Amino acid sequence: MKRIKCSQILVMSALLAMSACRDVNKKAIISETAGTYIKTPMESTLQPTNFDTIIDGKAVKLFWLENKDLKMAITNYGGRIVAILTPNKDGNYVDVSIGYSNIKDYLESAESYFGATVGRVGNRIAKGKFSLDGTEYSVVPNNNENALHGGENGFQDKVWEAEQPDTKTLILRYTSPDMEEGFPGNLTVKVTYSLTDTRAVRMEYEATTDKPTVVNLTNHTYFNLNGEGSGSILNHSLQLNADQFTPVDQELIPTGELKDVLGTPFDFNKAHAIGEYIEQEDQQLAYGGGYDHNFVLNGTKSYGMNHAATVIGDKSGIVMDVYTQEPGVQFYCGNFMASENTLKSGAKDDYRTAFCLETQHYPDSPNQPDFPSITLRPGEVYHTVSEYKFSIK
Ligand code: GLA
Repeated sequence: MKRIKCSQILVMSALLAMSACRDVNKKAIISETAGTYIKTPMESTLQPTNFDTIIDGKAVKLFWLENKDLKMAITNYGGRIVAILTPNKDGNYVDVSIGYSNIKDYLESAESYFGATVGRVGNRIAKGKFSLDGTEYSVVPNNNENALHGGENGFQDKVWEAEQPDTKTLILRYTSPDMEEGFPGNLTVKVTYSLTDTRAVRMEYEATTDKPTVVNLTNHTYFNLNGEGSGSILNHSLQLNADQFTPVDQELIPTGELKDVLGTPFDFNKAHAIGEYIEQEDQQLAYGGGYDHNFVLNGTKSYGMNHAATVIGDKSGIVMDVYTQEPGVQFYCGNFMASENTLKSGAKDDYRTAFCLETQHYPDSPNQPDFPSITLRPGEVYHTVSEYKFSIK
């Protein structure tokens, strides 16, 4: 008989404890007893007091939204989605978004963007430089020589003013001062998060400026539809309504070309597992370390929005449809995740255990005259809506 060493027992009990912890997070939550409401374990983990603090002289809080189908936790630190609880095929609530249980972990995180509202310009601007109306601007580079997600101190680190008009809505406001991170114009931004009767998380973005500027806002939630901390997302099924994508160079800056996905590992027009072609020899996959690319949406319309994507959790049966008024979506499959952070479920953020679908205008738009423009001028209103809609297969 094989002897089990003491250290192995310790490892095994730690693993058991962790998996028990994850299961508990998925237990049913609504009591059958009329009038009694029992909190989900995740709601107990995510105590609002874990987030109460002052940053830059502003109060940071955790807000819970809920309607009959969904529950969502958001902090006004970075306008971040902290948790999304949606029922799986057994009717048990699963937390499908990656995050931390307290503000300290967000401040010390090795990953800056979990759940965040990203801006002023999502994704990369080559060398942080662009010109607008003949003036050159330099955004603080934070990704090699390039500016990623609005520069060094993007919107993910700002404390937003928060107003909760009802149980299913949170309004966040932030005014980004003229030349913040190098962007011109005082930009007044409003993000409204709401839970809809169609079981969607709705994000409505509005912005105005007092000088010509560039704006490309998105949400950077990392999803695992089997539940946070439940392993690889490579067996999730993905369908993307995109016949083209924007190929990149080794710095992940678009070349400017719109490339057909047909015959490449980027063809998700028919649903298949995220991991099916990810190990194929392909220059674009090599540059991204996997998928980390902007897809050009076909404009497959559904109630006035582009139906961007359908993702299905292979174990949970949870389906997420992504709708957007944006022309593109960045599909990123957690290639930089490196087990450096401990998530609210107790699991580590292991390699490719989450994916992002960031609805957006294309990366490096200010330097690509053929891409749809992200210029915003005084008197204009930037307005865009995206939704993550949940159902069961
Ligand atoms: C986006 C980028 C990725 C990576 C993540 C955040 O998806 O395209 O390269 O920077 O954000 O880690």
